[in-house]
Amino acid sequence: MVHISERELELPDAVIGKLIKLTIEDKSIISLGHGEPDFNTFKPIIKYTKRFAKNCNHYSQPGGRLELKEAILKKIKKDNKINADVDNVVVTCGSQEAIFLATACALDVSEEVMVPNPSYLGYMPAVELLNVNPVPLQLKENNKFEINPDDIKKVINKKRTKAIIINSPSNPTGNVIRKNVLEEIADIAVDNDVYVFSDEAYEKIVYDKKFVSIGSLNGMQKHVVTFQSFSKTYAMCGYRLGYAVGPRKLINAMTSVHVYTTVTAPTLSQLVGIKALETKQKYIDEMVGIYRKRRDFIVKRMNEIGLKTIKPDGAFYAFSNIRNFDKKSSRFAADLLRKTKVAVIPGTEFGIYGEGYIRCSFATHIKLIEEAMNRLEKFLKN
Ligand SMILES: Cc1ncc(COP(=O)(O)O)c(C=O)c1O
Repeated sequence: MVHISERELELPDAVIGKLIKLTIEDKSIISLGHGEPDFNTFKPIIKYTKRFAKNCNHYSQPGGRLELKEAILKKIKKDNKINADVDNVVVTCGSQEAIFLATACALDVSEEVMVPNPSYLGYMPAVELLNVNPVPLQLKENNKFEINPDDIKKVINKKRTKAIIINSPSNPTGNVIRKNVLEEIADIAVDNDVYVFSDEAYEKIVYDKKFVSIGSLNGMQKHVVTFQSFSKTYAMCGYRLGYAVGPRKLINAMTSVHVYTTVTAPTLSQLVGIKALETKQKYIDEMVGIYRKRRDFIVKRMNEIGLKTIKPDGAFYAFSNIRNFDKKSSRFAADLLRKTKVAVIPGTEFGIYGEGYIRCSFATHIKLIEEAMNRLEKFLKN
């Protein structure tokens, strides 16, 4: 028998998966498509991985090992100015799982969640799989792709809206939301009694602006779920480790669903995660310093060759306007790949308002970025 649920069939085909396959098959392709650090996991973390690997034949506690939760509490107090308790934390298989669990537990079928557009391509499938209604919040280039609280006010519905997703620093735009804007969003959440789902996967990859966690603002404990990840900060994507911090009842519900989806995050990753949180700042600074140089280079080159690109304040993506050359970003990306073997992600992968843009990741060696920019320049001249 072959029967696939309509729910699954209605999911969009992600371009990224196809691209990764293509770049594995054809080594001459330069990929600016990948959304993960090109750095190795920091050496001390690898050392601990080898050391702990012998003792990982058992499950961990479903919501996360107590020692890890305690280390997370210390970290979020120090770095994010969020005070919480062990009951406010659930450890998950990457922050992607945490986002899914929060959506499943905070929203019923047909209730609404506000989703920035363009935004990380993991949100919409999670929302749609759960038959929750996404309400797009258009992010505009002339506002540096920052969320506009007035747009939230226009569409929020006291009965139906249950959550607002924010992502700072943003994938794909690199926008870091200013504190005064976070304060406005916080007021809206309190006035309308909704959650804010704050995805902070790139919190440590910030260049010029100060990053603020909305969960640190006064009175937000009851409203904010903060999603954090080990993937980008410590280059630990493959360890599949993340966590959410939020209101006790919701975290409790998320922990129950987590048991039925993945049981527990991998024991090895959790043990290593405790040590990763102790990583010396110099490792992160060095990595961010390299991203910064690449960012400055790619933004300068993009603007020189005619693709208007705002300097991202965080994360490792350049989001470039291609409208002077092509109105359709999927056609532009396909032509570019066919003619020059440079892979980029069409902006529409991040939502309809990503039309007219491409996302280029600079989590790639500078020499490859240089070569990709030369090929792109030639492509545009032709
Ligand atoms: C904005 C954002 N949030 C969440 C994730 C998921 O990260 P992970 O599940 O590896 O923690 C990603 C991955 O690329 C991302 O870009």
